[in-house]
Amino acid sequence: MKKIDYTKYPLPRIRHHANPVLYFPLKQHKGSNFIYPPVFDSLNWSDIFTDGKPPALIDIGCGLGRFLIETSLHQPEKNILGFEVRQSAVEWIEGVITGEGLPNVKALWYSAVNGLPFIETGSIEKVFYFFPDPWVKKKHYKRRAFSAEMLAEIYRVLHPQGKLYLMTDVPEVDQYQQEVLKESGNFSCQYTDSKEWDLEIRTNHEEFCTRKNIPFIRMVCTKK
Ligand SMILES: C[S@@+](CC[C@H](N)C(=O)[O-])C[C@H]1O[C@@H](n2cnc3c(N)ncnc32)[C@H](O)[C@@H]1O
Repeated sequence: MKKIDYTKYPLPRIRHHANPVLYFPLKQHKGSNFIYPPVFDSLNWSDIFTDGKPPALIDIGCGLGRFLIETSLHQPEKNILGFEVRQSAVEWIEGVITGEGLPNVKALWYSAVNGLPFIETGSIEKVFYFFPDPWVKKKHYKRRAFSAEMLAEIYRVLHPQGKLYLMTDVPEVDQYQQEVLKESGNFSCQYTDSKEWDLEIRTNHEEFCTRKNIPFIRMVCTKK
């Protein structure tokens, strides 16, 4: 597998969070005096991936994209699409993708709370949702991207037997996600220890937790 020398791509200063308006669907906002990532109903895959095919894998909240980029190298036969609300992170990932000439990976500047209407029903093998911003203060719960609506979209885009992979280092977030999943009744979920976890690539935040000895929870949910 090709090895990327990431030191060629100096990281800009990237804020922890985006403007709070970006964590809410565009249709909820009145007026237009703010900058919001494009919202679209369809995408032309030939503009996005070299082979012109749709993605098989999606990474919601891909952050600085280590998992996204490395997975594209690990599985060159599949297209992987990431969504990220912080524009500077997307621009940095784009720089790596262009610099390395990677044909099967793209990070979109997009707020996932607007749904996934441009992804065909039943077309995705795996959805990754790793270390979402926890938004632990009650008044910030509504900023969480994981919701009944988001889960319904994930259910729709997944193949029959497709899988949703979750990781978090915040027990309250795990509990919240469990409630949403249980309510939907559409997934069968299992906590997964490191021996059973079948992904070889690590995310930026997963590496961080491992380095700092911060425990985290992994779960795999299969579409019923
Ligand atoms: C803690 S980081 C984890 C990044 C990466 N998944 C990892 O494991 O290293 C969570 C990411 O989700 C992004 N995010 C939060 N809400 C989002 C939304 N509505 N749409 C897209 N990305 C979002 C944040 O900007 C942030 O980069």
